[in-house]
Amino acid sequence: MQALGNKKILLGITGGIAAYKSAELVRLLIKAGAEVRVVMTPSAQEFVQPLTYQALSGHRVYVDLFDAEADSAMDHIELARWCDLLLVAPASADFLGKMNAGYADNLLLTLCLASKRPVAVAPAMNQQMFANSATQENLKQLAARDVRVWGPAEGDQACGDFGPGRMLEPEQLLANVALQFVPGKLDGVQLLLTAGPTREAIDPVRYISNRSSGKMGYALAEAALQAGARVTLVSGPVSLVAPPGAKLVAVESAQQMYEAVMQQVAHSDIFIGCAAVSDYRVDQVATHKLKKSENSMSLPLILNVDILAAVSALENKPFCVGFAAETQNLEKYALAKLEQKNLDMIAANPVGNADSGFETDTNQLEVFWRDGHHSIERDNKLAIAKQLIDLIVERYTCARS
Ligand code: CTP
Repeated sequence: MQALGNKKILLGITGGIAAYKSAELVRLLIKAGAEVRVVMTPSAQEFVQPLTYQALSGHRVYVDLFDAEADSAMDHIELARWCDLLLVAPASADFLGKMNAGYADNLLLTLCLASKRPVAVAPAMNQQMFANSATQENLKQLAARDVRVWGPAEGDQACGDFGPGRMLEPEQLLANVALQFVPGKLDGVQLLLTAGPTREAIDPVRYISNRSSGKMGYALAEAALQAGARVTLVSGPVSLVAPPGAKLVAVESAQQMYEAVMQQVAHSDIFIGCAAVSDYRVDQVATHKLKKSENSMSLPLILNVDILAAVSALENKPFCVGFAAETQNLEKYALAKLEQKNLDMIAANPVGNADSGFETDTNQLEVFWRDGHHSIERDNKLAIAKQLIDLIVERYTCARS
């Protein structure tokens, strides 16, 4: 397979024990047809000798800024321009912090600043360092600036710990690199979607929510990324990891979800409302934990804003896709929502049984648009998501032509 024929990959290596795995990555990239140039930070050289990557890539390894300047054929600006993708693997906590802050005190950091090409990072560090809010904040901000964050994986660590922080395996990184170059049906398209449940506070320790796991929305985000879209995922609280490459905006309540969507929607071409948004919220959220007293109590609820309807009412509205989770009269209710919310498409799924809808790994959909209908047979959620994205591409292309 020459999935990467003629592609130029600049591989940055920072100081971490996972640097030894990058030797295999160089080998795999070259086998897939890529041309690879390697840049190492000073601390990376404490782990692996530049000669290793030189032998594997067939090119000199760049190790310091002045070294690159001395090479008249390829100074640091040339290097930054030369590549189709700059991948930093492993990316240490220290490197990510400096990269986020815009430091340029070594060649690799300078290249990250100077390159207009897509940049990806594969974090690798101790699980506690990864969990630290400083690292999390750095990754979040880098992702918001379109840096693709690939991994980390969870597992045994060189230091003896267990947890998230391992660099993705070279095979997985190769697959991610290859995906960057697959001409997608949604290339250049900005897709915004909501996923998961919302939580409506009752008091500081209690909330109203629903059974949505977020799996369908996350699968859609992944399928859209695979089709080439730039994806922003506004997600309620779920126990899922966002697909690498998606920009994640984490929220809790329907109001927060609404605000996040309104902030992001201006540049979106497609909006998918996949979240199970709570229709109501508690009118008066108690400031202190409620105490039991009477035999019964009632909680006055007020209607939340309908995010999907608000998006489809915008003057320059994106192509709008809604979901309808129904326990009965699927078609009737779905068509009513398509009409009432002025949607371009609605995906209805039966809920309340064991093998489709909430908290399950499989689903089935009945998809409706103004003059058409398509059934997506029961399958796992990623397979369903891919078919739904294909349908959206069809209708979206039709609507735009
Ligand atoms: N939705 C939304 N904001 C809300 C409520 C729903 O964006 N406040 C979106 C959901 O993401 C989904 C669709 O609207 O795409 C569901 O429509 P809705 O009429 O709210 O469905 P149900 O909540 O199932 O409505 P009902 O309870 O009346 O059946």
